[in-house]
Amino acid sequence: MTNSARSQDSPIRLGLVGLGYWGPNLLRVLAEMPEVEVRYICDHDDVQLQRYAHRHPHAGATTSFDDLLADDDVDAIVIATPIFTHAELASRSLAAGKHTFVEKPLAASSAEAGELIGTATRSGLVLMCGHTFLYSPPVRAVKGLLDRGELGDIHFISSSRVNLGLHQRDVSVVWDLGPHDFSILLYWLGQAPVSVRAVGRDSIVRGIPDVAFIDLTFPGGVLAHVELSWLAPSKLRRTVVVGSERMVVYEDGGMEPLRVFDHGVVYRDPQTFGEYHLSYRTGDIVSPKLDNAEPIALELIDFLSLIRSGDARPGQAELARDVIDLIEATETSMREDGVQIAVSDIRAMADGG
Ligand SMILES: NC(=O)c1ccc[n+]([C@@H]2O[C@H](COP(=O)([O-])OP(=O)(O)OC[C@H]3O[C@@H](n4cnc5c(N)ncnc54)[C@H](O)[C@@H]3O)[C@@H](O)[C@H]2O)c1
Repeated sequence: MTNSARSQDSPIRLGLVGLGYWGPNLLRVLAEMPEVEVRYICDHDDVQLQRYAHRHPHAGATTSFDDLLADDDVDAIVIATPIFTHAELASRSLAAGKHTFVEKPLAASSAEAGELIGTATRSGLVLMCGHTFLYSPPVRAVKGLLDRGELGDIHFISSSRVNLGLHQRDVSVVWDLGPHDFSILLYWLGQAPVSVRAVGRDSIVRGIPDVAFIDLTFPGGVLAHVELSWLAPSKLRRTVVVGSERMVVYEDGGMEPLRVFDHGVVYRDPQTFGEYHLSYRTGDIVSPKLDNAEPIALELIDFLSLIRSGDARPGQAELARDVIDLIEATETSMREDGVQIAVSDIRAMADGG
């Protein structure tokens, strides 16, 4: 087993599986890290594998995932394969004693995610899910504003994550794009919503929803609205947080990714029945300076430091499971024409309750 804390100087030896669209981004970052030795790259499609094999001559290139599992010198495995493969590959990786990083979402169901977390916890192995946006500097900056109470009480959050394509063959837009918004909301608010309602359509490919409008209600009444779509004339990743003291606009990839508006409405209690007063406050708009660190690098550094410290607490994987509960609640509501779904029912069903 390779589950003990490692010395600070020895490189962490990794195998990466999945060299399609996203895996090469992880590979590029890992290959530049001095504290990592990329021991294997793996894809069962040899054409895909060979595209990267010559650029990484020191890594063993293999079409067989078993080669990574069988090598006792491999400390950790990074999985960037399609969603339906995550549970099987991750459970085999954990069973072989490897710390495991799985691209988002952690698994294809809450039940599968629960099993992975159980296995990792029992084995003292790090299990982490690649919710990259949790490492994005603007997302972290908003978390800071929320934690310091600078936005006041949060009334609602609304988010649009839309672009033209890429239609996935096997999963809906909710499984594809939902993990981003759901992970961000869970991280910002520090709690799971109570209920979810959603409607969506399979506009282009029958049976694969490509647009979803999702409403989430959090404890205390905070509302969130998330629009996800692969059918939009232009790419938009825009989230607005409306608080009683300030409002925030976060536009991923924008010139000013984060703007904090000192805007709001002041409500004065009525002196006499019905005579309340509202005044609108429009103050400064601040665009905070942000780190330009690359989120993928930050998340992988986090994975490596958890391995080194031997700290296998599953906090991040638990959030990843909460994300899957929200995906399942959304899909259930969509199938039932927008009926309200209690998120706790989804978890109870996954746990066999
Ligand atoms: N964090 C992010 O922002 C982000 C962005 C895009 C995709 N992703 C995630 O990355 C993962 C991969 O997505 P993608 O778009 O790169 O998929 P993809 O289909 O483009 O690539 C997957 C690759 O895995 C290979 N593969 C599949 N099963 C395998 C197996 N058993 N053994 C070896 N190789 C196998 C395929 O041949 C393919 O090359 C998904 O979980 C997706 O949600 C994350």
